[in-house]
Amino acid sequence: MNEKVAALLNDQINKEFYSAYLYLDMANFYTEKGLDGFANWYEIQAKEEQDHAMLMYQYLHNNGVKVTLEAIAKPDKTFQTLMDPLKAGLEHEKYVTSLINTIYEAAQKVNDFRTTQFLDWFIKEQGEEEKNSMDQITKMELFGDDARSLYMLNSELAAGVNSAPPLVI
Ligand code: FEO
Repeated sequence: MNEKVAALLNDQINKEFYSAYLYLDMANFYTEKGLDGFANWYEIQAKEEQDHAMLMYQYLHNNGVKVTLEAIAKPDKTFQTLMDPLKAGLEHEKYVTSLINTIYEAAQKVNDFRTTQFLDWFIKEQGEEEKNSMDQITKMELFGDDARSLYMLNSELAAGVNSAPPLVI
């Protein structure tokens, strides 16, 4: 595999684990606020980010690339309002989309079609995650100020489940 593409993918493993850590911190915030549904939502996001990291880890191994694991940074965001993690989550997903796009571009430049195909799933996944984040913000804007509606939103999010990651070849 092209050295730059391999390095970017290796680095993305760390970024995905950081994302997991960041979302766990958001779950942490909502748990402290007594909103178990919102906490469940972010625990699921944290799990999905770990899945993303493992897909890349597996992909590099499958292609004979040595994986180097680096330290995971401390989540550095502070939250005051119930809206804060939702907005920070959307901003973070947009950032991750830009990272995936950069890897895609690097792979495309060297005609690494296997990697672009591997990344296709991530491109779609980022679209989904940005949309989900925007939907949560809209719902919070519409209903977040009303205690009964907030209770229902929380109940809706408590029912969420983790979606299975794809197989890596
Ligand atoms: Fe793995 Fe939400 O990006």
